[in-house]
Amino acid sequence: MSLRCRWSLAAATAAALTGVGLTGSAADEEFPALVKRLQGEKPKFADRQQKLLAERYDLADRAAKGATMSRGKPVQGGVRVKLPAGTTWESLAAMTPDQVREKGAWPAGFLPLPHPHHEAGGMIFPRFAIDDTKKQTDRDVSRFDLDHDFDAHKHLLPEFPAAIFLTTRPDLGDVSKGQLVTSDNFERLFKHILNPKQLEGLRLLVTPFPQQQFNATEDRRSLKASLGVACFDCHANGHTNAATHTVGDIRPNEHRHRIDTPSLRGVNVQRLFGSQRALKTVEDFTEFEQRAAYFDGIPADAARKGTNVLDRGSQVHFMGEFQALLDFPPAPKLDVFGKLDPAKATDSEKRGQDVFFGKGRCATCHIPPYYTDNQMHNLKVERFFKEVTVNGRKASADGPIKTFPLRGIKDSPPYLHDDRCLTLDDTVEFFNLVLGLKLTAEEKADLVAFLLAL
Ligand code: HEC
Ligand code: HEC
Repeated sequence: MSLRCRWSLAAATAAALTGVGLTGSAADEEFPALVKRLQGEKPKFADRQQKLLAERYDLADRAAKGATMSRGKPVQGGVRVKLPAGTTWESLAAMTPDQVREKGAWPAGFLPLPHPHHEAGGMIFPRFAIDDTKKQTDRDVSRFDLDHDFDAHKHLLPEFPAAIFLTTRPDLGDVSKGQLVTSDNFERLFKHILNPKQLEGLRLLVTPFPQQQFNATEDRRSLKASLGVACFDCHANGHTNAATHTVGDIRPNEHRHRIDTPSLRGVNVQRLFGSQRALKTVEDFTEFEQRAAYFDGIPADAARKGTNVLDRGSQVHFMGEFQALLDFPPAPKLDVFGKLDPAKATDSEKRGQDVFFGKGRCATCHIPPYYTDNQMHNLKVERFFKEVTVNGRKASADGPIKTFPLRGIKDSPPYLHDDRCLTLDDTVEFFNLVLGLKLTAEEKADLVAFLLAL
């Protein structure tokens, strides 16, 4: 069997396993031809995604009054999900899930959001992260076939680079010094505040390793052969830069969720990892990311593209240890129970807290002080709509999803596992419908004020 022929077979096997047709693979195609073809198709899929975003959301740059993220980026305000013609948020809340489904009245922005090019999938980084990484490390993590769909709407993404707070040194505040932490500067920034073991963990977290789209095979999506990606290329500064991906666990491809990079802040207090995978430790997830998630859950691809098997007793442990130092950002209005200090909170925030723990029932799942119950819950959002395939993603039942913690939540838009909610106001409308709460306009506004204080 010639080398070329064996290679095609591997690509075909991978395609069969992923459920992706051979259109996105390099079978029987030389690399320059693959690049040319996918670059030719790129504008078509980019336009399709931008059209979808514009149909579903108000994407305007409109800051919420007086609300900023930890290093000062304005938080976007207002409900951004568009209503179907002839409905209001009140009229929707008055209907049963069956009525909403029968009338086709479920706002499209509350359907699963497809990956920027769902059929192709894979890791995709926002432009500002690509540029800063290149400037510091000479590594290029751009794809020739695809750009991040929020590049033109970066006001809706987390601040970059994000602040870093350490559980061990709260006295220092943000230790990032406003810089993106990479292989270039981590030693300089951290050598005096970490022990050598933690520093080695951080080194591994900023070191690139091969991944499905970024590697040295001709079945890659980087123009030049790539050393791979680093954990912190997505979990930038231990937080998130909203790099996105299609989840590895689900087949066929149309059912795979778009997944937003979760913040690693506060992994120390959490007990389940991954939106659905429910791995039990940070160490398990660290190992799993590189062995499986990096290669879409295809062991053959991991072997072919060069998986970096980490040693559990030393490397994984060190990486886990550093991750467990990443604290939530300060919330000056919260007391030691994680509730509002009445002397510091506004009336609206206090009313919002009452809704959160009372009529809104949010605290059933989001329990203080970190506002998570470390559980999975099936919100059964599919009660509200008929199955429909949009841009290659089949909107159907999502199944149980992890209760993400709400401490520091204003720092990590867009929201939900797949970025479908752009603002906290959107998440309040979402839960108002999904939980059948019938909140008033004032209660919703107060709830948002409370979420901003967490
Ligand atoms: C595409 C960018 C990307 C890269 C690179 C990446 N991750 Fe992740 N990470 C994600 C996404 C997306 C999830 C959510 C997965 C899911 O929902 O199943 C995640 C989840 C996690 C979680 C669980 C967080 C939680 O709240 O449940 C941990 C821990 C983690 N990653 C650590 C790492 C480590 C360690 C590395 C490097 C070996 C790494 N990640 C590399 C995107 C990335
Ligand atoms: C039955 C449990 C449950 C209740 C009750 C609940 N949530 Fe959640 N919450 C979840 C789950 C599960 C997710 C993740 C859903 C997803 O990603 O699809 C979530 C996600 C969120 C997020 C986005 C988190 C992120 O990191 O993107 C916000 C904000 C939120 N909830 C606010 C609320 C508010 C406000 C209420 C009350 C009105 C509420 N939740 C009630 C379980 C619950």
